[in-house]
Amino acid sequence: MGNVLISRRFDFSSSHRYYRDEWSTEENTRVFGLCALPSGHGHNYTLEVAVSGAADSDTGMVINLVDLQAAVEVVLEQFDHKHLNLDTHYFTDCIPTAENLAAVLWGLIAEELVGAKLHRLRLYETDDLFVEYFGEIS
Ligand code: NI
Repeated sequence: MGNVLISRRFDFSSSHRYYRDEWSTEENTRVFGLCALPSGHGHNYTLEVAVSGAADSDTGMVINLVDLQAAVEVVLEQFDHKHLNLDTHYFTDCIPTAENLAAVLWGLIAEELVGAKLHRLRLYETDDLFVEYFGEIS
């Protein structure tokens, strides 16, 4: 049995703001534009979680989808309907861009996925903008 990639899609909503305290408001606006506005703004994110491996000879599955769903949902609960800067502790030192959010989600989901190999996260911030993350480069 060869390697199979299986993906599942999840939706969540979060708000965020791009702003560096050590920069002036003018510099923040120059770099981040409207994303630097004080109250932030929200997105309906879509997260595709891809797991790779061989299908088990007994079950025919790379991963039990019930387990995958449970692992991802327990992570996304921390972010859904939250302000990423204010309601989570993951973005005190980094800007909650899609790039950084994908990296944070990778660490948390990989920890939950016991016995399965996380291959890729694809995080859509809008319909036409997404990032892909493949874990830390070793
Ligand atoms: Ni945004």
